[in-house]
Amino acid sequence: MHEIYTASSSAPVNIAVLKYWGKRDTNLNLPTNSSISVTLSQKDLRTLTTVNSSRNFEKDSLYLNGVSHSIENDRTTNCLEQLRSLRQQLEEDDPNLPKLSQWKLHIISENNFPTAAGLASSAAGFAAMVAAISKLYELPQDASELSRIARKGSGSACRSMFGGYVAWEMGEKLDGTDSKAVQIAPPEHWPNMKAAICIVSDLKKDVSSTSGMQTTVQTSELFQYRVNQVVPPRYSQMVDAIKNRDFETFGTLTMKDSNSFHATCLDSYPPIFYLTDTSKKIIKLIHTLNDAIGKVVAAYTFDAGPNAVIYYESENEEVVLGVLFGVLSNVDGWNEMNSATLKVPEGVPLSS
Ligand code: ADP
Ligand code: DP6
Ligand code: CO
Repeated sequence: MHEIYTASSSAPVNIAVLKYWGKRDTNLNLPTNSSISVTLSQKDLRTLTTVNSSRNFEKDSLYLNGVSHSIENDRTTNCLEQLRSLRQQLEEDDPNLPKLSQWKLHIISENNFPTAAGLASSAAGFAAMVAAISKLYELPQDASELSRIARKGSGSACRSMFGGYVAWEMGEKLDGTDSKAVQIAPPEHWPNMKAAICIVSDLKKDVSSTSGMQTTVQTSELFQYRVNQVVPPRYSQMVDAIKNRDFETFGTLTMKDSNSFHATCLDSYPPIFYLTDTSKKIIKLIHTLNDAIGKVVAAYTFDAGPNAVIYYESENEEVVLGVLFGVLSNVDGWNEMNSATLKVPEGVPLSS
């Protein structure tokens, strides 16, 4: 009987306010633009991953939400290779270490929210996997260095290696060594920031982020305009808005950037539809609310899926959640902590 070495880690999702959409290198997962996101609280949407290693294991395996998931020839292999080679360096320096780099891994992962539904499961998933394996291997690499490895699993995963407000700097180098996540500000910087998650549908999307963005890069003219003209000025404006805790600018840019990203999806050929009628009703509702109050108190954003994330400041919680709660029926309720989760079934009639 051989020993089993084990480690666990969890990672929260992050929801971009300046979206990553497009790769310049599909193998290394290098993006066509820098992006910015907010990492949500661990208490809400998170992945929990446990990794086991033993010399008895015959092959690497991944169980995702209780179901065996293929890891042959895909981005998981990219992450594992790099983590093993870092472990191997440690083993060469210290021959007393168990040769974990040579052993297979059994990975067990669970998302406590819908997978592949546009709520950043790939981000939390690969961040938790890289964190758990680096813990098992006792790697000395810091969060930014690990973010480069998580990036190879899923681009957005690099940003979940940090809490708070995070940028993924696209980098310039061909080998991707400068394409990594950095923290703009910790969560405490903006303690009254909250996010409500409106689950419109928990179904798996029909076009994955990876393939959707490839279609956009290859076919959308609007995408070129977004990458060259729209995103670069927005990046510094968004960093400033976060540093100054300027919700009006933060919220306006967040909504505009979500709309810009979904416009490039519509401009793709064939077009990609992530937003549903319910998503659009939520967009209208937030604009109606902001117009009625006379300033931006709530900002919607949608990843590659129909589910809305609404950012707001806690002093406006009553009005924001009140309107969402009042207008969207079948609400499950929300927690009082860092974020709120509302479940909105598809097709619910909303007043416009
Ligand atoms: P999402 O919008 O949820 O990020 P994506 O299309 O980007 O959707 O990615 C979904 C894919 O990410 C899943 O089909 C699966 O391959 C991978 N994934 C999701 N969660 C995990 C996890 N916990 N561990 C490993 N891979 C995961
Ligand atoms: C719309 O990171 O899921 O959520 O790198 O191919 O795994 P891959 O794609 P992924 O794309 C995320 C797209 C987005 C925007 C964002 O998170 O920045
Ligand atoms: Co994803």
